[in-house]
Amino acid sequence: MAPLATASRTLVARTSSTLLRPAVSARAISTSPALRDASSTFENPFKGERKSEKVPDFSKYMARNPSSVNQVFSYFMVGAMGAISAAGAKSTIQEFLKNMSASADVLAMAKVEVDLSSIPEGKNVIIKWRGKPVFIRHRTAAEIEEANKVNIQSLRDPQADSDRVKKPEWLVMLGVCTHLGCVPIGEAGDFGGWFCPCHGSHYDISGRIRKGPAPLNLEIPAYDFPEENKLVIG
Ligand code: FES
Repeated sequence: MAPLATASRTLVARTSSTLLRPAVSARAISTSPALRDASSTFENPFKGERKSEKVPDFSKYMARNPSSVNQVFSYFMVGAMGAISAAGAKSTIQEFLKNMSASADVLAMAKVEVDLSSIPEGKNVIIKWRGKPVFIRHRTAAEIEEANKVNIQSLRDPQADSDRVKKPEWLVMLGVCTHLGCVPIGEAGDFGGWFCPCHGSHYDISGRIRKGPAPLNLEIPAYDFPEENKLVIG
């Protein structure tokens, strides 16, 4: 049996060497320079650099004259947005001011026109202006003289009669007591002018405070005489 086993091992060894020899030979051929030159024609474009670091070429998508084209577009957009914003702001402010301004009926009440020819000398007339009473007195010559006779330095609120009237015969003033706002009574009081019954203030024929708690003279509103016998208050 021993010689048979030896013979088998020899046969296996020869067969193996015979089968393996061509493979080794083929591997030797494939690595030879001649074979490599014949089969390799591909040139790697990324040789020497990593693929992720390669920046794509976008040159064909770029504008021909990039700086000027982009600036013109930017200026156009900024200008258009500025114009739209300015128009919106102007419209908003206009609407706001329109709403804040006085309406037509309020403006009509802002001025009052009075026909003076209907007020006889020595008489009072009370009209309503902006929700307040206004006293209009057609003074006589004696009343004007009396108003000018007063020593101004003795008054609580020193004021000359000439500073309170535009025409001496016409005294125009607010009918609101300067103490707490009552309406004084005309042709009454110790000085022949007006008397406030609320706390006893006496005003003279020029509407100046002469006695009582009121601190100031009756207020003179803005008024004018645009024509003879016409008074406009306001
Ligand atoms: S309100 Fe006229 S005296 Fe007081």
